[in-house]
Amino acid sequence: MKKTVTTFAKAKAEGEKITMLTAYDYSTAKLLDEAGVDSILVGDSLGNVMLGYEDTLSVTVEDMIHHCAAVARGAKEALVVCDMPFMSYQTSVYDAVVNAGRLMKEGRAQAVKLEGGVEVADRIKAITDCGIPVVAHIGLTPQSINAFGGFKVQGKSEAQAKKFVEDAQAVQDAGAFAVTFECVPEKLATLVTKKLAIPTIGIGAGAGCDGQVLVYADALGMFSDFTPKFVKRFGNIGEAMKEAVRGYITEVKDGTYPTLEHTYKIDDEVIDKLY
Ligand code: KIV
Repeated sequence: MKKTVTTFAKAKAEGEKITMLTAYDYSTAKLLDEAGVDSILVGDSLGNVMLGYEDTLSVTVEDMIHHCAAVARGAKEALVVCDMPFMSYQTSVYDAVVNAGRLMKEGRAQAVKLEGGVEVADRIKAITDCGIPVVAHIGLTPQSINAFGGFKVQGKSEAQAKKFVEDAQAVQDAGAFAVTFECVPEKLATLVTKKLAIPTIGIGAGAGCDGQVLVYADALGMFSDFTPKFVKRFGNIGEAMKEAVRGYITEVKDGTYPTLEHTYKIDDEVIDKLY
């Protein structure tokens, strides 16, 4: 059965942890879905993982639509959430609504995610007023990396922790059905999770959140450009891929692949008539 926003609310009410992983293409989405993940995030981390950019700033609405539509075709049960890329909602409430609508209509997302707290609460309200579910994202928000001066843990000082509490309340009040906490101290994330009615999905925010999200390529050992402290490798698919590719190269080079079982037949009579 297709998972929905109510699946998230029910999980929080029943104390069941929510699982979310990113994916950016049909085949990976299908595998994650078949494995039983609750939700697939088409993150703008596709800028790093799929497109090789050093940050997420160059990702466009068109990129997100293209990848989200592929994921949506592969995710039969998991709830598909699509990131709103940099400058697709910061510019105005109008742009936020139009672009969220495109991710739903053309990308076939079931919900959108956007970064920021108090300062984007009006965008979250306007989008949810259109019937589009929103996941908020607070703490370390990678689209603001230049303002933060790097990938730094957020919420450690009293001022930052107070801002984090205000942001969490603001996005809930604006109508977000869930919120991602990125790179904040575990105690802060746990405390705010207990205060909020909506589920919190942590990444680098400790075990007290209502669920966890990871970039699938990090979790499966397929991306090694940089590995944040919070990443755990649950597999080494990157190494397995390289091993398989080495096997392919060896067999093609030494002529052991393809064999008859991989080959199509033709009657000799047809061949004999050719030259
Ligand atoms: O883009 C992404 O993958 C994300 C996760 C890190 C939460 O936003």
